[in-house]
Amino acid sequence: MGRFTTFVTAGLAATAAARPWERRQDDGDDSTDSMVYDFADIEPSADIVWVPCFDDPKLSCANLYVPMDYYDDNNTDWTTIAWIKYSSGNDSAQDILFNPGGPGGSGIDYVATSGWFLAETLGEQYNIISFDPRGVNNSGPGLTCFPGDLADWSDWYTAASLTAPLPEQYASNKAYGEFCSAANAATNASFSGTVATTQDIMYFIDENHLAKGLDGSAELWFYGVSYGTVMGQTLAALYPDRIGRMILDGNVYGVQHYTGVITSDVDDTDIAFHSFFQYCYAAGPARCAFYGNSTTQQQMEDRYISLLQKLRDEPVGYADLDVASYPGVVRDVDISSTAFSMMYDALTNFPTLAVILSELENGVADAYVAYQTASSDSSIASRSISARNPVAHDPNYDSSEALQLITCLDANTNYPVDSYDDFLDARALYMQESFYGGNGTSLTNMPMCVGMSLSPPPSQRFPGFELSGISTAFPILFTNTLADPITPISSAEAMSALFGGSVVLAQNSTGHSVTSSKSQCSVQYMQEYLSEGWLPPRDTVCQPDVLPFMDEEEEGGGERRRLAVRRLRSW
Ligand SMILES: *[C@@H]1O[C@H](CO)[C@@H](O)[C@H](O)[C@H]1NC(C)=O
Ligand SMILES: *[C@@H]1O[C@H](CO)[C@@H](O)[C@H](O)[C@H]1NC(C)=O
Ligand SMILES: *[C@@H]1O[C@H](CO)[C@@H](O)[C@H](O)[C@H]1NC(C)=O
Ligand SMILES: *[C@@H]1O[C@H](CO)[C@@H](O)[C@H](O)[C@H]1NC(C)=O
Ligand SMILES: *[C@@H]1O[C@H](CO)[C@@H](O)[C@H](O)[C@H]1NC(C)=O
Ligand SMILES: *[C@@H]1O[C@H](CO)[C@@H](O)[C@H](O)[C@H]1NC(C)=O
Ligand SMILES: *[C@@H]1O[C@H](CO)[C@@H](O)[C@H](O)[C@H]1NC(C)=O
Repeated sequence: MGRFTTFVTAGLAATAAARPWERRQDDGDDSTDSMVYDFADIEPSADIVWVPCFDDPKLSCANLYVPMDYYDDNNTDWTTIAWIKYSSGNDSAQDILFNPGGPGGSGIDYVATSGWFLAETLGEQYNIISFDPRGVNNSGPGLTCFPGDLADWSDWYTAASLTAPLPEQYASNKAYGEFCSAANAATNASFSGTVATTQDIMYFIDENHLAKGLDGSAELWFYGVSYGTVMGQTLAALYPDRIGRMILDGNVYGVQHYTGVITSDVDDTDIAFHSFFQYCYAAGPARCAFYGNSTTQQQMEDRYISLLQKLRDEPVGYADLDVASYPGVVRDVDISSTAFSMMYDALTNFPTLAVILSELENGVADAYVAYQTASSDSSIASRSISARNPVAHDPNYDSSEALQLITCLDANTNYPVDSYDDFLDARALYMQESFYGGNGTSLTNMPMCVGMSLSPPPSQRFPGFELSGISTAFPILFTNTLADPITPISSAEAMSALFGGSVVLAQNSTGHSVTSSKSQCSVQYMQEYLSEGWLPPRDTVCQPDVLPFMDEEEEGGGERRRLAVRRLRSW
């Protein structure tokens, strides 16, 4: 392999001082009051300088220098972290830090478009602060498997299809991992693991505390969703005495996350699928298009399985110019993976899924095509769908590459898949875990780190959770639905068992994280936890306000809410 030029994060001033994160006397003078729309236009600074951004009076942004490695004095490299604040209008209000998941999800993008939804959920009296974690979107260092000159070659790469023979899939993952590792041997990519991000978060809250002129040590108030729960669990493990409040919603089993093979992810996928038939059956033929002539819920599920079988034998083609702008076919695998991802957001998606399935029973793909077209705008890498996008590599920021690199840096040397036989063994565990979710996740998420060999520097490696128990300054509130297709309640319970005094609040709905369904009950518990410091009684189960197929969505706010929820769910 030839040499390539180093990957340099866009927007950094080449003339910066040798240790630009160290505050200088004149620092901060260059703040500007003009509106910015791009972090490349925010001069990075050593202290937090908020500037108005994204045309919203509630929003301000900051671009902060941080050392590449806080604990290595010999390393004078630096990078920058992008921050955004959704203000309550009161500067002395409590700040809550937020991460939307991924890894690879952009907190900047989420808060810029949907900060209002977080304020509505957590309480309008807080300032919501988010950020792009290391390697994500507007923060450095750049994370890509095609750095520098290789960027031009990424279009030549095609991942093996999920229907390819398994040996080919394994070999394809391995080649990609080896290539990605070699391409990053001399970049700064390995400084982007989750531990490095937690160090940035603590650095930020200390700086923020100082900037407000406050005494004592800053408390961390944190809300994390999906992979954001791993970030929270890591923060709580490394800085237990700094936790002010922490809500972790839609939980990953952090212990497994740090191995890269997260079989527990699909613990509840089958419950989510069964709930589709249950809600459809309860809603009746007038509300659920897939009801058909079924006389029991089981019959309905059997029809679904026959439909997959039928699509395997006879894929349904689409070619109608009024419906699709390109031709294609719907195979069984398309429906199993689409249904899987629709489980993330059952309240919105179940009625559509029912229409898709009933049309396909009659050999029609219109609703399927319409759904795929509508969601392609927001089709970003998620914990469920393929780890990398075989179609288009975005040289500016490709969230699927960030997802892979961060996941595999975290797994580091704990990743257990080192041969084709290991791959088959790990795949069998996923298949055992879930009938509906095991197959897909064992081919997408599980082999992500095959061939990868990048390691974070010693100061950015996670030492593991203290299994004998961790005592945080304030107990954590874990929240989880009872039918989450990708972060099961068992993960919330297993992680809660590691953190003294913590409580799991369950919500009896289908979907990824509790905000995927409306539940006044859950929102009230979350808000009282934050404002009063009250924890729900153990074993509390909140009911959702509405069930799928029964949602008479109010005019107006409905679509905006759906979009905010969908954006969050896509992680
Ligand atoms: C920094 O460099 C010195 C001299 O080369 C070396 O002794 C020391 O171990 C280095 N420190 C770290 C943290 O790498
Ligand atoms: C790592 O980041 C520093 C900026 O602090 C930059 O000077 C250096 O060139 C980067 N290294 C590579 C290999 O990109
Ligand atoms: C602003 O927030 C602080 C801290 O929570 C609170 O004490 C104060 O009453 C708030 N001011 C207003 C005007 O709401
Ligand atoms: C990156 O952030 C910008 C805002 O700075 C946003 O417009 C863009 O959608 C984000 N990209 C991704 C992939 O999240
Ligand atoms: C697993 O999924 C692949 C496509 O992704 C499909 O070809 C195969 O039949 C599935 N296997 C099982 C056991 O469902
Ligand atoms: C129910 O519908 C399925 C498929 O539409 C059909 O094959 C089956 O014969 C129908 N059963 C009854 C009892 O009508
Ligand atoms: C969850 O809701 C269903 C109705 O949708 C109900 O039958 C079931 O008992 C509830 N479970 C719990 C634990 O509240």
